[in-house]
Amino acid sequence: MYVDSPDIQVIETIEELQNKLNRNERKNTTVGFVPTMGYLHAGHLSLVKQAKEQNDIVVMSIFVNPAQFGPGEDFESYPRNRERDIQLAEEAGVDIVFIPSVEEMYPTDGGIRILPGRQAHELCGASRPGHFDGVLKVVLKLFNIVDPDRSYFGMKDAQQLAIIETFVRDFNVRTAIVRVPIVREEDGLAKSSRNVNLTYLERSEATAIYRALQIGAELSAQGADPSAIERQVSEYIVSNSSGKIDYVKMLAYPGLGPVTVGAQEVILACAVKFSSTRLIDNIIMSTKDGTYVPNDDEQ
Ligand code: PAF
Repeated sequence: MYVDSPDIQVIETIEELQNKLNRNERKNTTVGFVPTMGYLHAGHLSLVKQAKEQNDIVVMSIFVNPAQFGPGEDFESYPRNRERDIQLAEEAGVDIVFIPSVEEMYPTDGGIRILPGRQAHELCGASRPGHFDGVLKVVLKLFNIVDPDRSYFGMKDAQQLAIIETFVRDFNVRTAIVRVPIVREEDGLAKSSRNVNLTYLERSEATAIYRALQIGAELSAQGADPSAIERQVSEYIVSNSSGKIDYVKMLAYPGLGPVTVGAQEVILACAVKFSSTRLIDNIIMSTKDGTYVPNDDEQ
């Protein structure tokens, strides 16, 4: 293998990483890339597992990206633990972990922005203006730095994934995007770095989110229309938790337009706020006998 150290390599500068991953030198060695904001959990480790199965080298980035947080959002309180992350990444078999500083990633600002299209106007994009501009900015920089053959993204951030797929396709970015299913706690709550910021009570109430989505999926399989499903999912969350609903929406996936006849896949997605912790979750469903039923990996 081109990177043959048994120990994880921790790299903090762009120059060192680019030298190490230089495509001319790595020849036919494939690189799988797992971009993260750290505070690793089983969801991230499932991305690593798949990347290891499909590539010779696995590179993970850990960078809490200020460009994707708006004013008043949780950039400061976003959980961080560098040493724990390095240890978990090493145990999972990551070969190189890239942990740049904000100054390393953003030494200059020429004012150029990447503006995603209509997919970014829905769901989280509607309540977090500029969020996906910031995601695309860092993701493009990371793709240019790592130059990965394949890049791994979790389906919990299904809107992010859809926008990145569109970006990579439309701008001929040289990496394949691999979708990895959501990993859940035993009680159904989607794994998220932000879960540690929930109080004990909020953590137990947050299980209402996935239960509500499952109720929505059952209604969908019975042929209910999107607005009835959205209403019932919202009502369940409000009645069973103190969470404040940001949105509950059913849209075509990955285009994120309205559900119209002929849409092959749909997403039932929601965002719910517990104090300052905003949680997102979704279920992807495919068309079957005139209704939409959850995909196999959602059950
Ligand atoms: O999904 C995340 O953790 C982040 O949005 C990403 C893709 C690492 C970009 O900062």
